[in-house]
Amino acid sequence: MDFYEVLEKRRTIRDFSSRKVSEEIVEKVLSAAFKAPTNDHLRQFEFIVIRGRENIARLISPVTENTRRIQQTGLEAAANTMDRDEYAMFVDALPKQQRMLMQSDCLILPFFRQKDHPLCQPADQSSLNYFASAWAAVENILLAATAEGLSCAFRIPIGNEPAYVKQLVGAPDEYEFTCFLTIGYAAADAHICKQKNIRVKDRIHRNVW
Ligand SMILES: Cc1cc2nc3c(=O)[nH]c(=O)nc-3n(C[C@H](O)[C@H](O)[C@H](O)COP(=O)(O)O)c2cc1C
Repeated sequence: MDFYEVLEKRRTIRDFSSRKVSEEIVEKVLSAAFKAPTNDHLRQFEFIVIRGRENIARLISPVTENTRRIQQTGLEAAANTMDRDEYAMFVDALPKQQRMLMQSDCLILPFFRQKDHPLCQPADQSSLNYFASAWAAVENILLAATAEGLSCAFRIPIGNEPAYVKQLVGAPDEYEFTCFLTIGYAAADAHICKQKNIRVKDRIHRNVW
């Protein structure tokens, strides 16, 4: 697939079929992470791949609880404050948070080494370099998965989720994970949210804003 075609095809998909992603493909797609730029040259990424309904359900159990809470309060409040396309995405995404992480039976936790400052207590912007590098790696994974005909969705951990997950998988203290990333084959009727239309020319400024 041509690179720009991959860019166009990469979309967040939250409905997966039961077709299994092979270990070989998982490895190939994750290898893309190690081609991303990293702040310290070291590419200190580690991946935990979780398979099996029970294992995934245990790992995401706080997600289920936290999402239920947001669903009760968040949707109503969002209706008044969000842009229409944003709200439509939110309405589609929110009820699928738990299911999308279960459905493809291939949940990945992309861990990265966070040195010097705790992730949520940065001293300045450069303290976030490890986090930024880890996200560059995630984007590479999303693009590689797309090139392999796969689809992805991810969820950002909130509240008690990072601590719970790190304890469950036995992650070292100085490692954090970017997101709950699920990779799979899209369901035949998978919903794709309308992407916001941006006129690139409007967003490029010459010399001054
Ligand atoms: C930093 C970041 C956080 C996101 N968090 C979530 C999330 O918690 N749950 C989810 O379903 N999607 C999440 N998304 C996916 C976005 O909803 C999605 O990328 C956006 O709607 C644009 O759609 P597209 O990826 O199909 O272009 C996140 C994306 C980014 C970049």
